[in-house]
Amino acid sequence: MSEKDLQTEHQQYIQDLGGWKRTVNCGELRAGNIGEEVCLMGWAQYRRDHGGLIFVDLRDRDGLTQVVFSPEIAPKAHESAHILRSEYVLAVRGKVRARPEGMINPELPTGAIEVVAQEWKLLNTSKTPPFAIEDRTDAGENLRLAWRYLDLRRPYMQKAIRLRHRLAHSVRQYLDEHGFIEIETPILTRSTPEGARDFLVPSRLNAGEFYALPQSPQLFKQLLMVAGFDRYFQIARCFRDEDLRADRQPEFTQIDIEMSFVDENGVMDMAEGLVRHVFRKVMDRVLPGPFPRMTYAEAMARYGVDKPDTRFGLELHDVTAIVSNSEFKLFRDAAIVKALVVPNGAELSRKEIDEFTEFVKIYGAAGLAWIKIRPEEWQSPIAKFLSPQEREDLGRTLELKTGDIVFFQAGAPAMVNAALGNLRPHLARFLGLVPENEYNFLWVTDFPLFEYSEEEKRYQACHHPFTSPAVGHVEKMQTDPGATLARAYDLVLNGNEVGGGSIRIHNADVQREMFASLGMDAAQAEEQFGFLLKALEQGAPPHGGIAFGLDRFAMLLAGAGSIRDVIAFPKTQKASCLLTNAPAGVDPAQLRELGLRLRETRPQSAS
Ligand code: AMO
Repeated sequence: MSEKDLQTEHQQYIQDLGGWKRTVNCGELRAGNIGEEVCLMGWAQYRRDHGGLIFVDLRDRDGLTQVVFSPEIAPKAHESAHILRSEYVLAVRGKVRARPEGMINPELPTGAIEVVAQEWKLLNTSKTPPFAIEDRTDAGENLRLAWRYLDLRRPYMQKAIRLRHRLAHSVRQYLDEHGFIEIETPILTRSTPEGARDFLVPSRLNAGEFYALPQSPQLFKQLLMVAGFDRYFQIARCFRDEDLRADRQPEFTQIDIEMSFVDENGVMDMAEGLVRHVFRKVMDRVLPGPFPRMTYAEAMARYGVDKPDTRFGLELHDVTAIVSNSEFKLFRDAAIVKALVVPNGAELSRKEIDEFTEFVKIYGAAGLAWIKIRPEEWQSPIAKFLSPQEREDLGRTLELKTGDIVFFQAGAPAMVNAALGNLRPHLARFLGLVPENEYNFLWVTDFPLFEYSEEEKRYQACHHPFTSPAVGHVEKMQTDPGATLARAYDLVLNGNEVGGGSIRIHNADVQREMFASLGMDAAQAEEQFGFLLKALEQGAPPHGGIAFGLDRFAMLLAGAGSIRDVIAFPKTQKASCLLTNAPAGVDPAQLRELGLRLRETRPQSAS
């Protein structure tokens, strides 16, 4: 009989719980329980037949327990156990006994005992799963996402999702104890600009009009401060239509926080307290404090990125002044030249250096210059262009030693920083310089208020347009936007931005100026943000806040490689759900009701 027919045949044996109650979970029994009568319920992981005995590893969310069906002890239970297959659901009543000598499994928490079945019930059958329900799996991610509920049965996923729960729980506990009120804000709303594209939802009752899903609850939390709630939080779902990466999802969750009558230190101290609490509760770990702080300018200078991983060195050095008159044209003509020294890196092979060169091209670099410091000479395609003075100055400034390699990048500051700033962690991983089990937090402060968009040929808000300019910088918004600083801060963990926030503009005129600096005329500002401007004129208190990426935080605490591992039902890189096949086409009647017509017919294969 085929597996499928067997399963159909086995369905006749399915029984109700019939009053049976589970007394222990599958991860609970130890040697101290020997002799107890227990009732377990769960999924059959494996069935092994051995010398007349049948062994089944019974699994639930807490672990595995070995169940033995013995023809001598319970002949009926043993006979019927032959039907058991992987992932069948069963209830077993039996007695805990010590595993025989030599059969103890020290790897398994329940490995000292087994349960001898007296009687059991088949609660459900299962088709053969498309992959084995265990941590080590060679099933690709797409297969796992299509069968996510089976994937979620794997201990690794159970652990990750439970860690996420503990994280959210400890956040709620801390914030409640510190006077924060949890308030829900709308999902169907207006555009809340956080720098990504909006997801739009057409309105049936107002044909031709659209809601936007919130990119964050930013404006609502500010309105809650105007409303006098003083301290707000929400574990909030946010939606951003942006290109996805390992640490980004189109819908994700923030721990969203806002406070009244505070400055930057008020928000950062509270956020730091929250992170310490989470580490104590979730990781059983006391973080050293206080978290170091660094300005954006310093982070860019030393690390080339605004979210540096500070678990290892490999800092960047600006050598522009040393090589500004160099014979080497590339250095002489560059706006900026930076160097990255890898101590003892001279043994890197040509092939490895080629790989790093390809890597920096992602960031717009044309190549990657390098020098190996050999005992007798500087080995490098560019060494011949460097004067004795330049060599001496480079050697002294970069503290070069025999056996080192130096990488150089020359060009526009943004490209140079991006190329070397991203090469840095890439190299550190390659060289095994990243310490395991270390959590380095860092506050990055004093961000620029604006960044210039080459694409749109105008300034954009670096954080979001509700962030306050630094004290004394309001004038500069018009006169020197590029040099205006913001009262914004990010929290970085091991090179990942886990949170970001700011002190907000609480004065309507400054907010109007902000919109003007972003190229909005008064009518546009009124049209889009009139409700905010009006609220700011109704006694808005000074306020500020922060939002943590809950998924990202959970990913880092779980040591997972992707944000998808800590989200029960995530989307793929192409923003689709392989389980439900969302997004999907809709009935033409639904479109008609919404007053919509598709411009292009969808390709056949996509429907
Ligand atoms: P921001 O845009 O910096 O700030 O977002 C806050 C944090 O949310 C996380 N995050 C994401 N996580 C997963 N997938 C995404 N697509 C994604 N985008 C962002 C990051 C980030 O640090 N309203 C402001 C907060 C404030 O000013 O209070 C905001 O949303 O970890």
